[in-house]
Amino acid sequence: MLALEKGLSLDVAGRLAVVTGGGSGMGRELVVQLAAAGCDVATCDVHGAELAETVALASAGAPGRRVTGHGCDVADEAQVGRFRDEVLAEHDREHVNLLFNNAGVGGGYSFIAEDRAGWDRTFAICWGGVYNCSRAFVPLIVASDAGYIVNTSSVNGFWAALGPNVPHSAYSTAKFAVKGFSESLITDLRVNAPHVKVAVVMPGHIGTGIVANSMRILANDGSEVATGDAATGEFDELMRQVDDGFRARAPVSASEAAAIILDGVRNDAWRILVGDDARELDDAIRADPLAAYGPDGLALRGITG
Ligand SMILES: NC(=O)c1ccc[n+]([C@@H]2O[C@H](COP(=O)([O-])OP(=O)(O)OC[C@H]3O[C@@H](n4cnc5c(N)ncnc54)[C@H](O)[C@@H]3O)[C@@H](O)[C@H]2O)c1
Repeated sequence: MLALEKGLSLDVAGRLAVVTGGGSGMGRELVVQLAAAGCDVATCDVHGAELAETVALASAGAPGRRVTGHGCDVADEAQVGRFRDEVLAEHDREHVNLLFNNAGVGGGYSFIAEDRAGWDRTFAICWGGVYNCSRAFVPLIVASDAGYIVNTSSVNGFWAALGPNVPHSAYSTAKFAVKGFSESLITDLRVNAPHVKVAVVMPGHIGTGIVANSMRILANDGSEVATGDAATGEFDELMRQVDDGFRARAPVSASEAAAIILDGVRNDAWRILVGDDARELDDAIRADPLAAYGPDGLALRGITG
């Protein structure tokens, strides 16, 4: 059984975790694995059918546990406030123990060449979502007897590109903010709430639905121009092909990534790198920070070749 005993004496069994973006990928796997470890879980997403699948999967693997799904766009503070109220009511609790700020989308690649809608929406989800959910749930974690805040950044939280010729502006800016916020909480929590820990998660390339989900979310908003003709299904087919390729090249699955994240939490880690590619990038940038953005510089294997 998963137990978060080191440094915290916190066993997730019987505790309550909140996971954002639970309809797919690492969020789904976190919900399933937390529930299987005896934790009650409340999860949210903007994709209702996928969220319902996650709740069914997690509930089937964890008889007796309470797993709830909530429609919520984490970029919208009013929706996050409703999500928090629903969580407390449906779980009949006054506090929360674990928060996984996991929801995110890829987009806003160029600040220079693209219009600002995609940039702003990507930043509002990837940073604003973490901020809104932390404002809503951290006081409930601080009010508990033991807790953990787990914020998913990315290798783009320490390296703001995908390769020498592939800009990644909004996403990287947001992920740097998530990393900075998480690191700032280490001292803040030690001084003001020592029974609560924080971790920043920095995955490399993980086999999830992020490509298709991001295209769906940003295209639905009109924030990013859909390529192809939606009326003929060309857009869906293109999306499926890109998504399949992204998953097929990933060296780490969503399920393996969730296990690594929960293992990091169990071991009281504050910095969780997921995948050899993430560790290699981290090492390379530490070894030669000035080379990070050179024309012959780094590329995230699998994404940029
Ligand atoms: N897959 C990777 O290679 C990778 C690498 C580094 C970091 N990450 C980060 O990991 C996290 C999880 O992503 P994933 O790869 O599992 O992707 P995913 O698309 O499979 O899952 C993300 C989920 O978040 C949901 N979501 C998106 N915007 C939302 C919003 N505004 N409100 C609520 N839910 C929303 C999506 O609908 C989806 O179900 C993200 O923060 C992502 O940036 C992913």
